[in-house]
Amino acid sequence: MASDKKLIIANWKMNLDMHEASLYLHKLSKMVKVHRDTEVVLAPTSLTLQSLSLQVNLKQFKLAAQNFYWRDSGTYTGEISATQLRGVVQYALVGHSERRHIFNESDKDVRNKVAAAIRNNIRPVLCIGETAWEHANNETKDVIHDQLAGGLANITGEELEKVVIAYEPVWAISAGLGSTPVSVSLDDVKLAFNAVRNQIKHLYGQKASESIQVLYGGSVTGDSVADYLSLPGVNGLLVGWASLNANTFNEILEKAHKSALADKKE
Ligand code: 13P
Repeated sequence: MASDKKLIIANWKMNLDMHEASLYLHKLSKMVKVHRDTEVVLAPTSLTLQSLSLQVNLKQFKLAAQNFYWRDSGTYTGEISATQLRGVVQYALVGHSERRHIFNESDKDVRNKVAAAIRNNIRPVLCIGETAWEHANNETKDVIHDQLAGGLANITGEELEKVVIAYEPVWAISAGLGSTPVSVSLDDVKLAFNAVRNQIKHLYGQKASESIQVLYGGSVTGDSVADYLSLPGVNGLLVGWASLNANTFNEILEKAHKSALADKKE
């Protein structure tokens, strides 16, 4: 199986301005305990990435871009490339459902971005997941199959070692701060994770399917951390609104550490 290390990513989406982001980082860095079994990644808006990269202690946190364009440079007004993000971030989200559904990103865009991240020494976090309609029509496995096949086309087995997969059922992603979390049954999560690992096995073999890091995301709160992380093969979490408050996010990190300790004892 993948390392026992839990990977916890805070996706702030289009929240927190430069001042708020800097205060948050200051506050969280004072209270967070560094555990070797937990890797913590913050994904702020592009605007704040550069200043946070100067402020962050990389022993405590890594940084992730929420998005970028796949070409390395050129006449692409308004875009930022993975080449420009090199050295600023260690991770980048790719194909988040909000990018796929609001900004019409295709599997081809997603695959180009996965490749661009890897060639620029950034670990891509490939986000996949089915919509409410697809879920209701039992299409979860098909969607996972298609999004993985599409997003990973042309990625070699060696390159795959850099890739993280995040399964986020679109219907479970909350509407934002203060909204009621959507609870996803552990059976649903298990089914999806099995589908992910089976597809990786089909594409890259047994060893790769066991070692790839796969995260869960969608309405994660402090109350659900232990449940999701207790499932076999769930290597971490992608957290949206519950990561916007440094205290709440720190509680999530402590619970993730406890889950990692529990894994070790087994
Ligand atoms: P929420 O945790 O707000 O549901 O968001 C999940 C998500 O989209 C993280 O990328």
